[in-house]
Amino acid sequence: MHKSMSSNNILTTQITIDNNHNDHDESNYSIPKSSPSSSPPGSNIISSPSSNRYSNNFNNSNFSSSSSSSSSNSNNSNNNVHSPSYTPGSKEIFFRVKDRVKKAYFKGTTVEDLKLLFLQKFPEFPKDVDIQFLIIDKGTNKEQQVNDVCDIKEHQELLIRHEYNEDTKKRSQGYTGLDKEKIVLVMVGLPARGKTYVARKICRMLNWMLVPAKVFNVGEYRRLRIGAGQPHDFFDPHNPEGIKARLHMAVAALDDMISWLHNGGRVGIYDATNSTNERRQLVEKRCTREKMTVVYVESICNDASVIEHNIKETKLLSPDYQGVDPSKAVQDFRDRINHYLKVYETVEGEKTRYIKLYDVGKKIEVNNITGYIPSRVVFFLMNLHLHPRPIWLTRHGESEFNAQNRIGGDSDLTERGDNYAHQLAVWISEWCSKVRADGYDGEVVVWTSSLKRAIRTAQYISQPKVVMRALDEIDAGICDGMTYDEIQEKMPDERAARDSDKLQYRYPRGESYEDVIQRLEPLLLELERTKSPVLIVSHQATLRCLYSYLKGRVKEECPFINIPLHTLIQLSPKAYGCEETAFKLAN
Ligand code: SIN
Repeated sequence: MHKSMSSNNILTTQITIDNNHNDHDESNYSIPKSSPSSSPPGSNIISSPSSNRYSNNFNNSNFSSSSSSSSSNSNNSNNNVHSPSYTPGSKEIFFRVKDRVKKAYFKGTTVEDLKLLFLQKFPEFPKDVDIQFLIIDKGTNKEQQVNDVCDIKEHQELLIRHEYNEDTKKRSQGYTGLDKEKIVLVMVGLPARGKTYVARKICRMLNWMLVPAKVFNVGEYRRLRIGAGQPHDFFDPHNPEGIKARLHMAVAALDDMISWLHNGGRVGIYDATNSTNERRQLVEKRCTREKMTVVYVESICNDASVIEHNIKETKLLSPDYQGVDPSKAVQDFRDRINHYLKVYETVEGEKTRYIKLYDVGKKIEVNNITGYIPSRVVFFLMNLHLHPRPIWLTRHGESEFNAQNRIGGDSDLTERGDNYAHQLAVWISEWCSKVRADGYDGEVVVWTSSLKRAIRTAQYISQPKVVMRALDEIDAGICDGMTYDEIQEKMPDERAARDSDKLQYRYPRGESYEDVIQRLEPLLLELERTKSPVLIVSHQATLRCLYSYLKGRVKEECPFINIPLHTLIQLSPKAYGCEETAFKLAN
C-alpha cells in the first residue's frame, strides 16, 4: 500500500550548496534545518499537494514580482557527507578570483590564516602580492574589506581582486564559438515594458551557457547615488537638473560596463529606457570606440493589461515607491511614463542591429543580426512566455547502484525507489485533480532520462512521457560503476583533479559538468517554450544544471547544489526568479 505523505513531509526550501562531491545518485542528501522563524507561516496549510494552488500561479501572471521562498525544514538532514577537508566547527566559504570560485573550509582565527588557506586553494596565485579579501553586499554592491575574520559568515563569498593569468588556456570560455567579440545588448523601451525582466532572463541564459554576461541597470545607479523616491518630474525631459543627473547615471553605468567587458566580460546588458536616438547614439559611439558590437533589444508592449499589471505588481514594490500610498505611487509612475512618451523614438535604421520584442514574445522583429550569441538571444526570446506554470524536478527513486554507493550504471530501482515512484504518481494525480476542480485542464508534460531508474520512477504516472537522452546522468566514463572509494583508491589523481575544479573536470572518456550544460541547452529552450507544467525525472548532475539555470545560480555553485533523493522540487517561474517549494514524498 502506498499512502500519501502527511503534512510534515512537505518542505518549503531553497536547495542548498552541498558539501557532497558526488554527482551521481548517492542516496545521502541534506536540507539544512531551518530556524523556526524561517519556516513558512502555516506550512501545514500547504499540507497536501492539492493545496499547492495552481490557480495562484495563474493569477500571478505578467512581470509579477516574486521573492524566493528561502526557508528550509527537514527531518532528513543528518546524512551530510562532508568533503575530506571539512572539520567540525569550520565555515564553508568561497574564494572568488575573477570568474574562478573555489570552495574551502575555514577554521582559523586571523586574516593570515585565511591567506594561507587561500594560497592552498590557489597555489598558482603570485605569492608576492598583498592579498585582500572583499565581501560584496549583493543588495548595494558595496565592498567591505575583511580585516577581522569574525566578519566572515557561513557560505560567504570572498572576492580577491587580481589580474593574474594563470590557466586561461585551460579554462573553457563556454561553447559560444571561436570569436571573442564583445557584445553590448542595449535595452530600449518605455518604463513598465518588461525590459529588466527580459535583460535578466537573457543574462541568466548566457551565464548558464558559460558566457560571462552582466546586467548594468541605470535605475539602480540612480537609486544608489541619488536616492530612490525621485518624483515623476525628475524624469521630465524639460527638467534640466533631472536631465543632467540622469545623464551622469547613464554614463556611470556605461563606464562600469565597458570596464567589466575589458576585464573578462563577454556580453554587457545595458538596462535603461534608452528611449531617444540621442541617448542611443551616445551609447553606441562609446561602445564602437571600444570595439564592442551594439545590439538593441527593444521591448514594445501595447497590451494595456500587461502594462497595468506590471505597474501594480512590480513598480509598486520598487524601492522608488517604498512607503508611498499605492494609488499615489501608481499615479506618479503613470506620470513618469508620460514624460518618457513625449520623447520616445523607436529603434530604426537599415544597418542597425536590433531585436524588437512585441508584447513579450507575441511577435519578434529582427534586423541585421549575425553571430552566434546574438542569434542565440533571438532564439531564446522567441521562446519566452509569461504563462505561469510549475516546473517539477525530481531525481529517480533509489536505485540498486545507489544502495551500493556506485556511480552511473543503468540499474533498476530498489524497493525504496519503487515506493517513491508510487508516491510521485499519487502526488501528481492529486495535483491534477485539484487543478481540474479549479477549472484548468491539468495536463502535465513528463520528461524522463533514458536510463532505467528514471523511466521506472515515472512508470506509475498516467500522463504521457517523453524519454530524453539529454537528461541522462553525467557520463562517468571509465569510472562508471565504481564507488567513490574505489576511484580514490585506484585513481587518486582523478579524484584530486575533480575536487580541484568540479565544473570543468571531465571523467576520462566521460563528461564534465560543462558538457552536461551544453547538451541540456536545447532542452532548456524547450522548457522555456512549453506552457504546460513540466515534470522532469532525471539525475543529480543534470538536475543541478537545470536547477542552477532556473534559480540563476552562478555556474561555480552548480556542481555543489544539493538535490535530495525522494524529494519533488517545485519551481514556479515568476518575473524575477523562481519560487521554490520542496515536497519530501518518501523516505
Ligand atoms: C531610472 O533612473 O530609473 C532609469 C533611467 C532611464 O533609464 O531612463
